[in-house]
Amino acid sequence: MILVSGGAGFIGANFILDWLAQSEETILNVDKLTYAGNLNNLASLKNDRRHIFVHADIGDSDTLTRLLKQHQPRAIVHFAAESHVDRSIHGPAAFIATNINGTFNLLECARHYWQSLDADAKAAFRFLHISTDEVFGSLGAADAPFTEATAYAPNSPYSASKAASDHLVRAYHHTYGLPTLTTHCSNNYGPYHFPEKLIPLIISNARAGKNLPIYGDGSQVRDWLYVSDHCSAIRRVLEAGCVGETYNIGGWNEKTNLSVVHTICDLLDELQAKPEGSYRAQIRHVDDRPGHDKRYAIDARKIERELGWKPSESFETGLRKTVQWYLQNDAWTAQVLSGEYQQWLAQHYHGSDTSATNPDLL
Ligand code: NAD
Ligand code: TYD
Repeated sequence: MILVSGGAGFIGANFILDWLAQSEETILNVDKLTYAGNLNNLASLKNDRRHIFVHADIGDSDTLTRLLKQHQPRAIVHFAAESHVDRSIHGPAAFIATNINGTFNLLECARHYWQSLDADAKAAFRFLHISTDEVFGSLGAADAPFTEATAYAPNSPYSASKAASDHLVRAYHHTYGLPTLTTHCSNNYGPYHFPEKLIPLIISNARAGKNLPIYGDGSQVRDWLYVSDHCSAIRRVLEAGCVGETYNIGGWNEKTNLSVVHTICDLLDELQAKPEGSYRAQIRHVDDRPGHDKRYAIDARKIERELGWKPSESFETGLRKTVQWYLQNDAWTAQVLSGEYQQWLAQHYHGSDTSATNPDLL
């Protein structure tokens, strides 16, 4: 079996669903269920004995130690994190607690467990750390895409906390020999994406007749990867990645934010036309995000060359599937837009903090 941390979140849930669609191997899913964790993402596994859910914080050593001893996983795939840049700007403490201290705790528990294994199990064990391209900082328009050798230059509290966790993972391999692997992926999109991130937010706001907020002039560039392509890359790295190595994962899909929003509006115009006019009319330029990284781009040639992985979706096919998924899953969006998310929005956008980056969200 394998242990997955953060498996109730966007990528973790997609990873578990994809994994169990093609493998009989059990997944032990350890998730704290923050605002971003949602067991409805895994509702289709309700009676599936291959999915074991444990509600726990990766900062809880006693629980992790007990789970590792009891279930003897052959690998840990570590997704759990605070993942939203805007939240990290307004409240960085949770990012330090989970992304840095939580990863440290998970590494410590993994190290003690790994050291207790027999020689064969020890050699086969893997700790796969899911990181981001954001640790490399921001590129200029003419710069070459990030490679695995690009120097770290994180700019937001989110990316700085992920960078710190990457360094800890690296050190645990170098110092203790823990068999680690690290991946750096670009921006994901697809089903079960929490509607605070650009693509699901735009789809949800457009359909609700709300403003579509674009930070600044919308010329910032991201590389987009359909989430199931990220999941297949993770499976491939887990299966064949070289211990101690890092792998960049990307979709070769650099797009400006404005063009992403235009494409979503055009898809909605086609698939769920308004009585009159285009969804583009709802676009509003709002204050820019502080410290907004201008461009991310991933050079994914190493994983293609060494592990034979390539994305299967283009941005056009992946985005169409994504918009269709949201059109067919209104109940999911309604559920995640209730409760704690609303409380956070109220505090973030209507409380004493007036530096909100996204006032048109509500
Ligand atoms: P997400 O915010 O949707 O989900 C995070 C999950 O982790 C949630 O289920 C949450 O409940 C859980 N979690 C948070 N703190 C926890 C804790 N202390 N203990 C246990 N569980 C905890 O995030 P995501 O978009 O699915 O991202 C998953 C991972 O992939 C993150 O490490 C992120 O940095 C990385 N990543 C994300 C993207 C992207 O575009 N979303 C791109 C590259 C890398
Ligand atoms: P986001 O989905 O938050 O991902 P990240 O910041 O990790 O790349 O944002 C993607 C891009 O979209 C980023 O450049 C910020 C921009 N953005 C907006 O213009 N408006 C929005 O409402 C949001 C959430 C993001």
